[in-house]
Amino acid sequence: MMQHAPHIGQSGPVIRQLNDAAINRIAAGEVVERPASAVKELVENAIDAGARRICVDIADGGKTLIRVTDDGCGMAPGDLPLALARHATSKIDGSDLLNIHSFGFRGEALASLGAVGRLSVTSRAAGHEGAEIAVTGGKVGAVRPAALNGGTIITLRDLFHATPARLKFMRTDRAEAQAIGDVIKRLAMAEPSISFTLRDVSGGGEGRQTFRADAETGDLFDALHARLARVIGRDFADNSMRIDAERDGFHMTGCAGLPTYSRGAAVAQYLFVNGRPVRDRMLIGALRAGYMDVLSRDRHPVAALFIDCTPQLVDVNVHPAKSEVRFRDPGTVRGLIVSGLRHALAEAGHRASSTVAAGTLGAFTPEPAGARVYQMDRPSAQARAASYAAQAPGFADMTGTYSARAEPAPDDAPAPAADTPLGAARAQVHENYIIAQTAEGIVIVDQHAAHERLVYERLKRQMEGHGIAAQALLIPEIVDLSDADCATLTDAAADLAALGLSIEPFGGGAIAVRETPAILGNVDARALLLDVLDELTDQGGSDTLRARIDAILSRMSCHGSIRSGRRMQADEMNALLREMEATPLSGQCNHGRPTYVALKLSDIERLFGRT
Ligand SMILES: Nc1ncnc2c1ncn2[C@@H]1O[C@H](COP(=O)(O)OP(=O)(O)OP(=O)(O)O)[C@@H](O)[C@H]1O
Ligand SMILES: [Mg+2]
Repeated sequence: MMQHAPHIGQSGPVIRQLNDAAINRIAAGEVVERPASAVKELVENAIDAGARRICVDIADGGKTLIRVTDDGCGMAPGDLPLALARHATSKIDGSDLLNIHSFGFRGEALASLGAVGRLSVTSRAAGHEGAEIAVTGGKVGAVRPAALNGGTIITLRDLFHATPARLKFMRTDRAEAQAIGDVIKRLAMAEPSISFTLRDVSGGGEGRQTFRADAETGDLFDALHARLARVIGRDFADNSMRIDAERDGFHMTGCAGLPTYSRGAAVAQYLFVNGRPVRDRMLIGALRAGYMDVLSRDRHPVAALFIDCTPQLVDVNVHPAKSEVRFRDPGTVRGLIVSGLRHALAEAGHRASSTVAAGTLGAFTPEPAGARVYQMDRPSAQARAASYAAQAPGFADMTGTYSARAEPAPDDAPAPAADTPLGAARAQVHENYIIAQTAEGIVIVDQHAAHERLVYERLKRQMEGHGIAAQALLIPEIVDLSDADCATLTDAAADLAALGLSIEPFGGGAIAVRETPAILGNVDARALLLDVLDELTDQGGSDTLRARIDAILSRMSCHGSIRSGRRMQADEMNALLREMEATPLSGQCNHGRPTYVALKLSDIERLFGRT
């Protein structure tokens, strides 16, 4: 080994003071990881400078050129050398690191960029002449006069040319350009009143504009909403709930997508703390928890949430790229997010996303109607058949709680009243879909999915009230299992009993099921037990007891649901519609699939070319 350590001679290790160039390169390595991190630093500086317009030009994925032009306050010629010096900043005086109101505070970014690329700064502040300064080979040059009307232009060429090792880690131009676009979009969401443009000028010339968001006007929320529509897409804006919640000094605003507008990966989750885009595991976890009831594990909510608090309650100085934060009281923030989202979801009630209808219309339209945003994947017909096979209750035991309003028979039903958004049932087709006429058009309800949600909500209500009523089986069902599975269930036996499922060990790797939840009616106890076992095995990670219970109830309700294939009478169907209207979250089943699709008359007319 010794021959590989040339600096350690016989006289032992020598401690040396590194020179500034080496120190700067090491520090820069933490701040500037790739072109996108350089863009982030430069755009944040422009925002801190009060810019109204920010233009970013890049070439070759930012590897050969990054140029950020802003119309902010600029810098006086005399300040330019300081701006490039390490630990020099105009943003804090160093007396209170817990009172930071700007993106920047370290006085580190420009010095770092100068150490890893060819940097030049041209700037002009009000009342001063324009001037420029450049760093080459780590050496800061002299300040020279330059022509500029105002604001600042920062140019960074040949990033990492002096650190070939880093250069090797760069990904393709495309991937780096995409990361840059992502950084700009996140900052653009946080600053709706600033205009942003991103141009790819690879190969010279005017280049190609790859992103543009003009300054939004209007009140704060309108501006934010318009900006989110611009950045995330019109569909998101139309299919999201407005969020506005407060708790103990923390405020959450923003937009969160309807469950039926979810994605197959966690790719569209934008979280901000005091206007700063962050990627924080605690916050992402809270977002998930907020949707737990309405999305299955493989679906991911879309959301842009802004958490604001006085700077004293959060430390932003914990990560070199400032992308993580530390809250003084993480529990409060988590609680705010989870309860704020649940509340909004409950208020959104039976609303299902319009992309569901759009997707449906897309399927009807003879020509391809563009990309379908709605990408909810339904389980295969087989899987559904299997789950329906666990047959459910008589529907009769539910009718008792329906409003007593008598619905007329479908044939001579008058136009539905405006206070029944899901309208009057007209028909049941293929033994699983209820067609109802509404004031505005028609609604198609998936009776199994809808009923599953209703049973789930009833189970939860019982749970919160006197507990879930159990019904004893005439003959206990004996289920043979592995020893490990038996142990899992036996450990949970007390909790399950509270949920109306009484089990006990039967010896020899078997479990006896003695009682099942009464709401579910005559269920296949074996299938129910196996499903609950799956849930218990799956959810090792679920954090709260409440979350675990809800997940189990959700599984159970699937067994208690009207299966497809069951014929229903008009009054039964109407009762189902009325209960859906009165039940929170009834726009989606427990897995986030829609329970109904609404088609406007105008959409139907369009299908027939009538408009
Ligand atoms: N676009 C700009 N317009 C006006 N002044 C700027 C601009 N960019 C940088 N400056 C000035 O240069 C200083 C140094 O910038 P730099 O980004 O290195 O540090 P910082 O923003 O203060 O802190 P941080 O390292 O956390 O970003 C800033 O404090 C600011 O005064
Ligand atoms: Mg900065």
